[in-house]
Amino acid sequence: MSDDAGPSAWIGTSWKMTKTLAQAREYARVLADVSWPSGVQPFVVPPATAIAAVAEILPPGGPVLVGAQDAHWEDEGAWTGEISVPQVWDAGARLLEIGHSERRAHFGETDERVNLKVRAALRHGVLPLVCVGEDAEQRAAGAAVEVVSSQVRAALAGVPETARVLLAYEPVWAIGSGGRPASPDDIVDVVAAIADLGGTARPVLYGGSVSLDNAAALMAVPRVNGLFVGRSAWQVEGFIALAAIVAECST
Ligand code: 13P
Repeated sequence: MSDDAGPSAWIGTSWKMTKTLAQAREYARVLADVSWPSGVQPFVVPPATAIAAVAEILPPGGPVLVGAQDAHWEDEGAWTGEISVPQVWDAGARLLEIGHSERRAHFGETDERVNLKVRAALRHGVLPLVCVGEDAEQRAAGAAVEVVSSQVRAALAGVPETARVLLAYEPVWAIGSGGRPASPDDIVDVVAAIADLGGTARPVLYGGSVSLDNAAALMAVPRVNGLFVGRSAWQVEGFIALAAIVAECST
């Protein structure tokens, strides 16, 4: 679906730590039969156990991109429990989610590691999706633009300007079942600050409590090029409905 100019909008979901292989295949089979609206690039990010099974149904080069939720920055070696970018590529992933707030909060993901992983993804031709976002305290202190801009700068340090990188702005306070959905006013300044950081225009996806109720309003924020969704897209019908909204908002 992507051409030289890239898709006009993105709709993606991370399944986080949900879905058996059977559930993952069932979801993927439904997506394989969808006629996607033109200009919209859908992607799904299964848990590592299901990447290969999903990519068999949604193969590389097809309309739906398959991603991985994380990967190590080294290509191989004695790193028990980890998987590498060449391994997720081998399984069929062509996108790599990096630096999600749950990994930053619970698994010691630092800006430095995020940068190493961005470089690893680019080395192997995998599209990095860099997740950034301020927490509630930083927002209350009026530091959202500064914090998020600094996360993006760190993630992209040493990365060529021409490299294709997606950004996902996901305020930590908006993510998950305890999250408060962001309003367009909440996000407009941060999105504007990162969309052209360093003089290069990059697609910015919004994530955090996206639902059928707020998707159109969030897509209407200037420079938001798509949505990155958790819970509301864990049922395939939700994902397809959100893709339709994204398509409508991007034409
Ligand atoms: P929710 O949509 O469940 O809030 O999760 C968003 C997210 O973290 C996507 O990466």
